[in-house]
Amino acid sequence: MPAQTVLDVRNLTVDLLTGHGAVRPVDGVSYSIRRGETLAVVGESGSGKTVMNFAPLGLMPIGVKADVSGSVVFDGTELVGASEDKIRRLRGKSTGFIFQDPMSALNPARRVGRQIAEMAEFHLGMSATAAEARALDLLKLVDISDPAARLRQYPHELSGGLRQRVMIAIAIAAEPKLLIADEPTTALDVTVQAQILRLLKNIQSKLKMAMVLITHDMGVVAGSADRVVVMYAGRNAETGPVEKVLVSPHHPYTMGLIDAIPRREDAIGAPFRGLPGVPPMLAAPIVGCAFEPRCVHSVQSCKSHRPKLVETLDPSVFAACPVINDHLLERVS
Ligand SMILES: Nc1ncnc2c1ncn2[C@@H]1O[C@H](COP(=O)(O)OP(=O)(O)O)[C@@H](O)[C@H]1O
Ligand SMILES: [Mg+2]
Repeated sequence: MPAQTVLDVRNLTVDLLTGHGAVRPVDGVSYSIRRGETLAVVGESGSGKTVMNFAPLGLMPIGVKADVSGSVVFDGTELVGASEDKIRRLRGKSTGFIFQDPMSALNPARRVGRQIAEMAEFHLGMSATAAEARALDLLKLVDISDPAARLRQYPHELSGGLRQRVMIAIAIAAEPKLLIADEPTTALDVTVQAQILRLLKNIQSKLKMAMVLITHDMGVVAGSADRVVVMYAGRNAETGPVEKVLVSPHHPYTMGLIDAIPRREDAIGAPFRGLPGVPPMLAAPIVGCAFEPRCVHSVQSCKSHRPKLVETLDPSVFAACPVINDHLLERVS
């Protein structure tokens, strides 16, 4: 593993045991992230993005038991099979989290300054006074104007965009090596979305953190990430450098997500540009390619053969579609 690797995930599989039986939302996924790098994880709702990132860190909703297998090495420590205590200690200090809905992640009854300061007290062992000063610095770092006044406010007194900035301040308070941002702009207005993404990128490069940016929107990937993992039905459909995957996608699902990016020339009120159909239900076993029922390039063998992720003509891009891959190979030979 290269020295700069912050997170190395190999063959990660997650089985969820719920009141309604077992499902496998993550099925043999591998990827890694280096220091200072942003990895986008993109896919429609239900494709396994959240479970894949949070189950290995022991973060699952109450009442859901996650059985994690494979290997997840974070900052040199194997998380799969580690004690809950070990995972808890790693999680708070070395990883920061940002969620879609800042209101549910913030404590409504406490001033935002206190919530930021607590992180610094707890994880960096700062005194209350030092932590207050750090909270002020962090609010400046996330570009909140009049930070001294904001420190004394409660979450409900802030706009959605400001709350997300506060969440970012909390997430980076303990100087994590890895920031996991799960749909950080999905709940925000379009104009605020762009500001928050820019802020995240800025802070990431200042602090040289690694970042996982989870999104359902390929438009977000385009301007914000170095590499991308495209998820479909719990598997990696395609992965590679963003500029390559966006310009010459090798999987029909990736193509569909790219087509779904809203464009400037789209008229107001134009029909929603998107992928027809819906992802498969995970409760039923998937035979063949999970994307086949929605795929315009599908051939007979797609119904019976589950495709593997393989190197494409470009050795930095891997895709799980033999139809497109063979077609491109034929064109060059
Ligand atoms: N709390 C839960 N209870 C039961 N099943 C869940 C729960 N969370 C996730 N799942 C299952 O895992 C799949 C992937 O979920 P998730 O990782 O949240 O998808 P995404 O983040 O890509 O929208 C869901 O489609 C569902 O089958
Ligand atoms: Mg999710």
